[in-house]
Formats: sequence, structure tokens, C-alpha cells
Amino acid sequence: MTSALKVLITGCGGQLGQALLASLPPGIEGIVTTRASLDLADAEACGAAVRQHRPDWVINSGAYTAVDRAESEPELALRVNAGAPDAFAAALADTGGRLLQLSTDFVFNGSQGSPYQPDQARDPLGVYGATKAEGERRAADRLPPDRLCVLRTSWVYGPVGQNFCLTMLRLHRLKAAAGEPLAVIADQVGCPTSTSTLAQACWAAIARGVSGFHHWSDAGAASWYDFAVAIGELAVARGLLPEAAAVRPIGTEEYPTPAKRPSYSLLDCRATRRALDLPPLHWRQALAAVLAQVPPAA
Ligand SMILES: NC(=O)c1ccc[n+]([C@@H]2O[C@H](COP(=O)([O-])OP(=O)(O)OC[C@H]3O[C@@H](n4cnc5c(N)ncnc54)[C@H](OP(=O)(O)O)[C@@H]3O)[C@@H](O)[C@H]2O)c1
Repeated sequence: MTSALKVLITGCGGQLGQALLASLPPGIEGIVTTRASLDLADAEACGAAVRQHRPDWVINSGAYTAVDRAESEPELALRVNAGAPDAFAAALADTGGRLLQLSTDFVFNGSQGSPYQPDQARDPLGVYGATKAEGERRAADRLPPDRLCVLRTSWVYGPVGQNFCLTMLRLHRLKAAAGEPLAVIADQVGCPTSTSTLAQACWAAIARGVSGFHHWSDAGAASWYDFAVAIGELAVARGLLPEAAAVRPIGTEEYPTPAKRPSYSLLDCRATRRALDLPPLHWRQALAAVLAQVPPAA
């Protein structure tokens, strides 16, 4: 009998962490960590967790994800987003395990106007992207290439947690009831990614022992405006909302935020889909599947 593969998972209270736990494949022993049991800002604790559990893999799904707040808390964002993968990678280099490091489209500047390839140079616009880029770099410096998988993804949302989809459901309801339009940015383009397809990609990467730099999102492209319109339409169709608000497209300059965001950050996922043997799922279909899991009052 083969023994279970031990996988230490960080950020289990987060939206991806919860999806990873909900889809834990047979033959995997999950070592569940949350902010309460493992502080990712504490590099020593991260290394100690690896030395204690000696996992075959660490999935580092936890992160400092508050993109705008990171602009005023750069040191904490760096400790969590770069210090933790650095510490995991250093300890795994000793214990012989592997790291699956989740990363982001925000490591790119979004100005090239075509989908990013996994081997393209990083050039983040804000603190969050810069700290995630530094985490990728430090992990790659610590581990042999065949023991590190960096999986960059984009616009993550699911039926739980804090995300654009759940925020839009709430705003559609409020604005439609007030007879007001919902203003949403139309000049930033990327691709929404559901936590369930992303979790599936993570487990496939582990099952196949995939290494290197990879890109994963659902298929197609959307602006935040497109995404908001689709959320309204599909939520009404599912009976989650009595009616959708009218959505008004606006430019980035009309909704100023502390952090600058890439205007076009599509990720080319073709090589990763081949490596993981997973078919593309259009983001609208993935959205319908997520909405099917949202309780009516959300
Ligand atoms: N969300 C996106 O749109 C997006 C896009 C691209 C890439 N990603 C990447 O995908 C991964 C998963 O993101 P997600 O959307 O699941 O994020 P999330 O829902 O914000 O979850 C992040 C988790 O990390 C935990 N965390 C933050 N600081 C911590 C600390 N100091 N110690 C321990 N835990 C800490 C959070 O704990 P609390 O719940 O207690 O705050 C939360 O459970 C991350 O690596 C993220 O960078 C996300």
C-alpha cells in the first residue's frame, strides 16, 4: 500500500484555501493551516512547520491580498508574500519537499496588449504585485527548478470569501432596488478564475509533479464591466436576484484607487492546460457554476 502524499496548505481560511480543502483528492493527507495556526509573516514559524511536518508539498495559497492596502503596508505585504515562500522554499530544500506557490497576473505591467507567457519578465505596477514577484524570485533562488511550481492566476472569485462576484451581487441588489446604475471599470481587461477550477489545477499540478512557471485562469477575456454584467444576468436567471442593476461602463480614471492595476493582464494558459491535461472552461460557464453554489440571500 502506498502512503498518502502529505500536503501542507496555507491560507485555508481564504477563498482558494477553502476550495482546496473541499476538493482534497483521495490519497492526499492535507495539513491544514490558517492565520491562527501559522502566521505567514513569521518566517521562522513557516520554516518550523515544514521541518515538523516534512510535507511532500506545500501549497502556499495564503497571501497578503489587499491590493490597495498593500500600498500603505509594504513591509507587512513583503513579509507575507515574499518572506513566507522564501522560508518554505529554504526549509523544503533541506527536507526534500516541493512548493506550489500561487502568484498573480499583477506581476506584469499590463501594457503589452497580448496575453502574457509564463517566461516573460516581471514588471509589477504596485506593492502587491512587487511583493508577489519577489516571492516567486526568492522561492526560485532556494529550490532546484524541478521542486518549484509557480502558478500565476487572475481575478479569483468563488462562492465564499471576499471577491468581486459576491460584491457585485450585493451591489446589483442595492442599486437595482434604488433604481441607480452600477458603475464598473471597463478599460481593465483580464480573465476571471473560479476557485474551483483553480483548486482543480493545483491538485492536477501535484498529481503530475509539474514544475516551473505556469499560468492558470478560466478561458476567454473580460473587463470588470463585462464580468459585472454577466454576474447580474446569470444571477437573475438563477433566481439569486429579483433584477439586475443597469451597469454603466467607466474608465479607470473615474474610480481612482491607491494601487495602480494592469490594464490588460490576460495570461496565456495553453501550455499549462496541456501540462495539467485540463480542458479550458469559459469564464461565463465557470461563473454559472459558482453562482449555483451561492445561497439565495448572498
Ligand atoms: N484574489 C485574487 O483575485 C487573486 C488573483 C491572483 C492571484 N491570487 C493569489 O491566489 C492565492 C489565493 O488567493 P485568495 O483569493 O484565496 O486570497 P484570500 O481569499 O484573500 O485568502 C488569503 C488567505 O491568506 C491569509 N493570510 C493573510 N495574511 C496572513 C498571515 N500573515 N498569516 C497567515 N495567513 C494569512 C488570509 O487570512 P485571513 O482570512 O485571516 O485574512 C486568507 O485566509 C494568493 O496567493 C493570491 O496572491 C489571488
